[in-house]
Amino acid sequence: MKFININIESNIAILTISRPKYLNALNQKLIEELSNKLDLIRSNEKIRVVIISGEGNKSFVAGADIKEFANFNKEEGELLSKNGHDYLFDKIANFNKPVIAAINGYALGGGLELALACHIRIASINAKMGLPECSLGLIPGYGGTQRLVRIIGESKASEMILTSKIVNAQDAEKIGLVSSIFNPDQLMHGAINLANACVKNSPKALEKAIMCINKNFDNMGLQFEQKAFGSLFATNEFKEGVSAFLEKRKPNF
Ligand code: CAA
Repeated sequence: MKFININIESNIAILTISRPKYLNALNQKLIEELSNKLDLIRSNEKIRVVIISGEGNKSFVAGADIKEFANFNKEEGELLSKNGHDYLFDKIANFNKPVIAAINGYALGGGLELALACHIRIASINAKMGLPECSLGLIPGYGGTQRLVRIIGESKASEMILTSKIVNAQDAEKIGLVSSIFNPDQLMHGAINLANACVKNSPKALEKAIMCINKNFDNMGLQFEQKAFGSLFATNEFKEGVSAFLEKRKPNF
């Protein structure tokens, strides 16, 4: 199954996540494929910037695939988080070239976490962003508890995580969650303009700048998040939250 389309435009690789029937939700195969594509791009000197977007204009990524993990136990839940961090989210955050998220619709849960791992985030005006995992009896498990706090500050991040609030593009720009917003038909143009501005710079300097920026974020929080995420898979509240999503009803916690 092919979930990632790749287009190369001069020095820019555009990766489009394509699982539109499920609003581009991230299953483990998709994560593996995206991870493999990034490995190829890492060593390709001709490619200087990566743009990640979602197929269609409804969704960037609607989160991790809830149906895939609905029956996971604690160990499987923790491994889901660890593999996500190791194969994709940390790989993007520590990538040797700038990675731009072009958020073209829903970026929820693991979808927003994917954008948070990227170095630059821009969004279309129809985008909706949030970390609704607590409504599923979970917590963000792909770095959201750490990266959202770093990017927008603890006050706004706690509000978003603890209330499962979804923010629109205008509010996301106001709180610094994305750096700019565009009409949907201009989003990719905006991303390519940003990418070209990076391409003009020294690749070695960009790599070092990314490493140094990441040093602001040198802590054990990500490992702690993996364990906390896994532990929730052993609770009845997780079972209720996920059943409610699958049965298209509100959870009763
Ligand atoms: N996982 C699996 N399937 C998903 C999905 C997800 N995260 N998001 C959407 N889908 C599926 C729906 O189940 C539906 O499939 P069926 O047609 O088989 O029922 C299809 O995609 C279309 O979705 P909807 O019918 O729900 O579309 P909508 O327009 O009514 O609602 C939405 C859109 C508000 C984004 C809604 O789909 C939604 O709330 N999705 C879940 C968002 C979410 O909770 N994300 C967090 C996931 S947990 C996570 O990410 C954990 C982590 O940190 C590791």
